[in-house]
Amino acid sequence: MQLTAGCRKLFCMRPATRAVHAGERLAPAGWKSVTTPIYPSATYIYEDIATLERVAGGEENGYMYSRYAHPTGHALELAVAALEAGEDEAAAPACVSFASGMAALHAAILASGLQAGDAILCSQDVYGATIGLLRNLFTPLGVRIELASLSQPAAWPEQFAAARPRLVLVETLSNPLLRVPDLEALAAAAHAAGARLLVDSTFATPLLCRPLELGADFVVHSATKFLAGHGDVLGGVALAREPETAGLELQRKLAGGVLGPFEAWMILRGLKTLPLRLERQCRTALELAHWLAAHPAIERVHYPGLESHPDHAIARRQFPAGQFGGILSFELGGAGRERVYRFFNALRIVLPATSLGDVQSLALYPAASSHRDLSPKQRREAGIGDNLVRLSCGIEAVEDLREDLERALTVIG
Ligand SMILES: Cc1ncc(COP(=O)(O)O)c(C=O)c1O
Repeated sequence: MQLTAGCRKLFCMRPATRAVHAGERLAPAGWKSVTTPIYPSATYIYEDIATLERVAGGEENGYMYSRYAHPTGHALELAVAALEAGEDEAAAPACVSFASGMAALHAAILASGLQAGDAILCSQDVYGATIGLLRNLFTPLGVRIELASLSQPAAWPEQFAAARPRLVLVETLSNPLLRVPDLEALAAAAHAAGARLLVDSTFATPLLCRPLELGADFVVHSATKFLAGHGDVLGGVALAREPETAGLELQRKLAGGVLGPFEAWMILRGLKTLPLRLERQCRTALELAHWLAAHPAIERVHYPGLESHPDHAIARRQFPAGQFGGILSFELGGAGRERVYRFFNALRIVLPATSLGDVQSLALYPAASSHRDLSPKQRREAGIGDNLVRLSCGIEAVEDLREDLERALTVIG
């Protein structure tokens, strides 16, 4: 009986050696696992050392050390790249996975080739930690950070001339006001000004929008959200086409923000049901947005599926028919922080949790969580009031969600 693929004389060996090598590295004998296995190996070996040498030198594809790449992560990267790709195989992007969405964003910013003295022009309406990342990690490196509302194309020439950016950063669906920039026009304007465009497409997923096809240079997703979808794993991905992908790989290899094989496997599993989940989440969000917009206790609803949303026309053009994302925000009438907290405490199905895109519906108070690091003045400028609630629709029955919201609105009176 052969207990390992490579070690025939196992029974002659001592227990300490058997404990290390027995059962390992079995060669599959004609079977294949249906799904990609989790490969929790830090290093990889080959039949002969010359192959390893060729892999190390990039002359042959393969794995060598998991900080550089590993098979489970690679499977996830191929899957995300396939979703983010259009029909032109030659223009398909490559995907590099990271330990979190923030790690992916950080790597993509660095891979854009920024240098001290350069500027980043960032939409003011983005995830609070993104602004924190720029201010705390890039300002000290001598990078100028310019925040602006990028929702008025007519203002771009002046904004680009004033900021002279090397990089422009926006979200496909912004957090938390769900603004939708015209990515094709923005990419053209950025390129004309000598800048690159980086798009955080976390809220949209590749199923609603493929920014690289519209001209963006880099796309990032927090895979923690819709891609994984179950609130049980952290991860991030950054995508680009050649030659930008080399910069992303270098960032991961040298800074080491690697997505582990277990996490990669969970995200890969979540990805399989993304189309089903997102379809339901978009439908629920649209229905709740209409219902909330007509509710007397609600001052305003922010959802690009509503005709009242300033970017409704762009969203209709940029997203598939009838789909506007699974997230909406609304302003509670006459509410301040205390009233919002009572509303949160009265919810029974919607969970007051700091995330989005999960199968569970989640409510978040931007002023105290995603945007708490902004000053009250910065929040006001970004249009994030103390009565704003963000709702990420899960896959529960929409009737139960509506009843839960109604109950909480009745409780606060
Ligand atoms: C739009 C957006 N981008 C990036 C991130 C960061 O993702 P992660 O928490 O996976 O680092 C978040 C997190 O909420 C987000 O909402």
